[in-house]
Amino acid sequence: MRITGVVRPNESVKSGNTVSAAKPQKERTKRMRVVIQENYDKMCKWAADYIAAKIKAHKEDRPFVLGLPTGSSPIGVYKELAWQNQAGELSFANVVTFNMDEYLGLPREHDQSYWYFMHDNFFDHLVDMKPENINILNGMTDDPEKECADYEAKIASYGGIDLFMGGIGVDGHIAFNEPYTSLSSRTGVRNLTTDTRIVNSRFFGNDPEKVPSQALSVGVGTVFDSKEVLILINGHNKARALAATVEGEVSQKWTCSALQRHNGAIIACDEAACGELTVDTYKYFLDIERTQRL
Ligand code: GLP
Repeated sequence: MRITGVVRPNESVKSGNTVSAAKPQKERTKRMRVVIQENYDKMCKWAADYIAAKIKAHKEDRPFVLGLPTGSSPIGVYKELAWQNQAGELSFANVVTFNMDEYLGLPREHDQSYWYFMHDNFFDHLVDMKPENINILNGMTDDPEKECADYEAKIASYGGIDLFMGGIGVDGHIAFNEPYTSLSSRTGVRNLTTDTRIVNSRFFGNDPEKVPSQALSVGVGTVFDSKEVLILINGHNKARALAATVEGEVSQKWTCSALQRHNGAIIACDEAACGELTVDTYKYFLDIERTQRL
């Protein structure tokens, strides 16, 4: 039986003799978005355009607060954002950034510190980013507990993070929240797994022993508290992590899966990472995203 008086957005409305199409409404359902792009470059362009649109739309007095990751995944996004900034299309003058993590024991000048990575790949290429608006955990701190508590307090002082971009480890870790980190964890010291040290050893002369064994990292809960979260997942080696993020049980084994409970999580991925999704899920997201622009 149909309920009278209820009109679906695309349904024709009959009034008297005239037939007029109902105006499509903005979708109000909160759900994880999975934006599948053909390849890495298109994924990065999409993500950069999304971030740029959010920064431009931000009209509040307070700055736009952007969470940022390191790793190879975001490099294309950083290039595109820097290009838009240099072209005068996008300003970072009113943007405050908080990075996800930093190796414990690496000084800023070390070419594998995340401080160095962020300046080399992003901040040094921006024309109007204020250095005082860049926040990166200090891996050389004498007091890691205080460093992490201060970081959380500083995020809170800005009213929280508007948009946290992140990458993902092959084991599904976000920031340095390895499997079995509490899904409500806050910024703190993390022990890195052997797997992560092996994966990251490609930047340390292929020697896992040279990869620091600990890091400072925002927590899963810190990321979760952001108004929006945008995670980049690309490449065949991330296929299991993508499936766990989107289709798996919410579980501390795959810390990325916590995002299923978030009200504004977006996964931007490439085709190569979709290999472990069920065909139904893959088609569902392509279908439902078809009419969505950014
Ligand atoms: C490190 C970082 C993570 C990052 C991950 C994946 O473990 N701490 O924040 O997401 O690497 O890096 P990549 O994008 O190079 O695969």
